[in-house]
Amino acid sequence: FHVHWDVKAAEKNGYEHFMLKEIFEQPEVVRATIVPRLSMNEEQVKLDRIHITKEELDNTNRIYIVACGTAYHAGLVGKYLLEKMARLPVWAETASEFRYRDPVLDSHSLVIVISQSGETADTLAALRMAKRAGARVMAIVNVVGSTMDREAENVLYTWAGPEIAVASTKAYSCQLAAMYLLVLYLSRMQGTLSREEFAILRQELYALPEEIQSILERAESIRHIVASTVQKSVFYIGRGLDYYASMEGSLKLKEIAYIHSEAYAAGELKHGPIAMIDGDTLVIGLITQQELTEKTVSNLKEVKARGAKVICIAEEGNEKVTEAADEVIWIPKSHPMAASLLANIVQQLFAYYMAVKLGNDVDKPRNLAKSVTVE
Ligand code: G6P
Repeated sequence: FHVHWDVKAAEKNGYEHFMLKEIFEQPEVVRATIVPRLSMNEEQVKLDRIHITKEELDNTNRIYIVACGTAYHAGLVGKYLLEKMARLPVWAETASEFRYRDPVLDSHSLVIVISQSGETADTLAALRMAKRAGARVMAIVNVVGSTMDREAENVLYTWAGPEIAVASTKAYSCQLAAMYLLVLYLSRMQGTLSREEFAILRQELYALPEEIQSILERAESIRHIVASTVQKSVFYIGRGLDYYASMEGSLKLKEIAYIHSEAYAAGELKHGPIAMIDGDTLVIGLITQQELTEKTVSNLKEVKARGAKVICIAEEGNEKVTEAADEVIWIPKSHPMAASLLANIVQQLFAYYMAVKLGNDVDKPRNLAKSVTVE
């Protein structure tokens, strides 16, 4: 009698790949990142290792968010929301660029680095450069005890747990969740978010894990759509937060499916890329920001008229999107702040099923490393 015991498989809890397991862990880890910091009766977020005072914030005249890869995409969302909700001026930049230019950096700057591993060479170099220049630094990290955790004076942990698959999924969702908390925290400090608005947003964040779960329950239908999709070249388009989410969707497809894809601000398509659209193109349109629906729908009609296949990821009830799409993948209606996190769960599953269909090594894509600790 033999028991075949494969440790790796056991760790996968019955999932075929770590990536799929990690995608399905997202309701739980997003909850772990949000709930302990947002008590029901408080009027402010509890962030134990954030020491910035109101006086220091008033003394800050620019914020940089610096990161690499997927973490950079979380940074772009942070930039958008900190400006919109906390009215703070923010720049988001990739660490490999930031560290080799000469940014205005002094004691009036705050530099926020985001990193799953806490060890990425370029991001760490940016953190050290900021400290040398006398700037305040904050790290949003997943690995407790990592170098960035140890070197940053302010730390906000993402509680994603170990992420094994090279392509980041649950760490990104937790980075967004952490960013939402920081946005609420700094908006309260700035006085741009009333108690009532704060209470509404808290409810919205509490609802996120269940909304993620309801998307995961539709995984099979996404797999079906992937099965019938054969286009050679892919564009992800969106506006506002949807544009930033589309960058992450496009990156995921490149990383594990090795399909050429580009993310484009929907309004920029007509300034060049529309020349490339033909019957071999797939355009994935993200529409979670209600007020921008008409604009993106009109861009989708333009590409459809040129033969592209159009898949739209949109909020339930936004029927207008059906005018321009061959397929719509619906996500639950949520707060605009958090909707792109939900849209991205669809993108993760889309890339995953595409990579599986193509027979790729999903957990260890060619040429990529989980953590890039050398330049
Ligand atoms: C590598 C990984 C990406 C990750 C990036 C930044 O390229 O393959 O998934 O987003 O590094 O890593 P970090 O640990 O700093 O978040």
